[in-house]
Amino acid sequence: MIRLQKAIADSGFCSRRKAEEYIINGKVIVNGEIVTELGTKVNSSDEIMVDGNVITKQDKEYYVFYKPRGIICSTNDDKGRKTVVDFFDSNKRLYPVGRLDYDTTGIIFLTNDGEFTNMILHPKNNIPKVYIAKLEGIISGYEINKIKSGVIIDGYKIIPDRVKLKSADKKSNTCIVEIIVHDGKNHEVKKIFESVRHNVIKLKRESIGFIDLTGLKSGEYRKLTIKEVKQLYAYSNDKKRK
Ligand code: URA
Repeated sequence: MIRLQKAIADSGFCSRRKAEEYIINGKVIVNGEIVTELGTKVNSSDEIMVDGNVITKQDKEYYVFYKPRGIICSTNDDKGRKTVVDFFDSNKRLYPVGRLDYDTTGIIFLTNDGEFTNMILHPKNNIPKVYIAKLEGIISGYEINKIKSGVIIDGYKIIPDRVKLKSADKKSNTCIVEIIVHDGKNHEVKKIFESVRHNVIKLKRESIGFIDLTGLKSGEYRKLTIKEVKQLYAYSNDKKRK
């Protein structure tokens, strides 16, 4: 997020001082609303108009994708396997926001906006990610509590926001567990359950923040709306206010 007058000056439209004048005189519109406050912060997803001229074109793209199993979360693969980017016909240089393992299914964002990527991935923003894991063996209350008290992964203590046994099947000796984490370390969910000696047989990420897979089938995607992108940014704004 940067100050509105800086964003206007950075676009080359006018000097910062002139931009301040435009703002004070009610000549600046951000996302369709007149802004007269000099301290207003904007980011790259905001559309800014100055004196009737659009100065930041909305050329960033944001997608929510339902990743199937057996797809690489990368822009290319040296073994020639299909990647998440291969599902898109955008002419923008899209890339996945973070990683899901090859065998993990579920929600992932793709974008060409580095600022958005950093905001989503930064652990300090505490964006909850909900996973459903199928485990080998039936997890005990003791093991769940152990996980809840924190698991060290790559020297970093991960304390899940929630760990809940959803169902258990004695016949197949498996169980389904919901786990909510906000960190985003590589293989973190598998490592968390391995720390109490349960292998993850299947893993699906159901949501990132308030965005889930509603309306999407495996392999499908949709654009995030500007409103959704802005609401996702609210996770980082909330942190700054504290
Ligand atoms: N944690 C994992 O172990 N794998 C994923 O794909 C995502 C989170």
